[in-house]
Amino acid sequence: KQSPVIAPSILSANFARLGEDTANVLAAGGDWVHFDVMDNHYVPNLTMGPMVLKALRDYGITAPIDVHLMVKPVDRIAPDFAKAGASLISFHPEASEHVDRTIGLIHDAGCQAGLVFNPATPLNWLDHVLDKLDLVLIMSVNPGFGGQKFIPEALAKLREVRRRIDERGRAVRLEIDGGVSAENIGEIAAAGADTFVAGSAIFGAPDYAKVVAAMRRAIG
Ligand code: DX5
Ligand code: ZN
Repeated sequence: KQSPVIAPSILSANFARLGEDTANVLAAGGDWVHFDVMDNHYVPNLTMGPMVLKALRDYGITAPIDVHLMVKPVDRIAPDFAKAGASLISFHPEASEHVDRTIGLIHDAGCQAGLVFNPATPLNWLDHVLDKLDLVLIMSVNPGFGGQKFIPEALAKLREVRRRIDERGRAVRLEIDGGVSAENIGEIAAAGADTFVAGSAIFGAPDYAKVVAAMRRAIG
């Protein structure tokens, strides 16, 4: 298991002052920026694209940017996020015609690649590509919105993916996304996650640093 990473989801940030709010959450102890891309097609919501990512880089954000693509199709747009300054790009297998090819496209564009599992997506999508992935993302809500309740079945999935990663012995991050808070992050870490996305729990609090610190304490 790798050192814990907290990735605040800027889906819950103030979009009218996105650069400033992103810088604030990083100064408060966030490690990565989780960047949720929604297309009103794969998920019923619409957020931000490569131009916004590039604007954050131009503003001076240097932390790793963890792009979570909830778009279909994936292949046409994924390289644009790499060009805009993404560090890691994750996508949903149901949104790609050829999962192995999409992973290759992301790597060729110079980014790390992640595969995302919705609550009802079976883990056998991992069978033939785990050796090529840099990250596995387990969704603990149905994608599309911040502020939803954590689906506890995700814990068993985390344990299973942790087992598969450890069995291979390669460094692959195991990320959780959806309904993560300082209250439940301890048991999520115990189930095997090492990378924690949190949106509303951080941005909904008056003091970001206090929440991030409480999360780190709970992870142990
Ligand atoms: C949901 C997004 C999440 C979202 C998490 O589709 O992928 O990253 O921002 O928000 P919270 O932490 O509020 O559940
Ligand atoms: Zn996300």
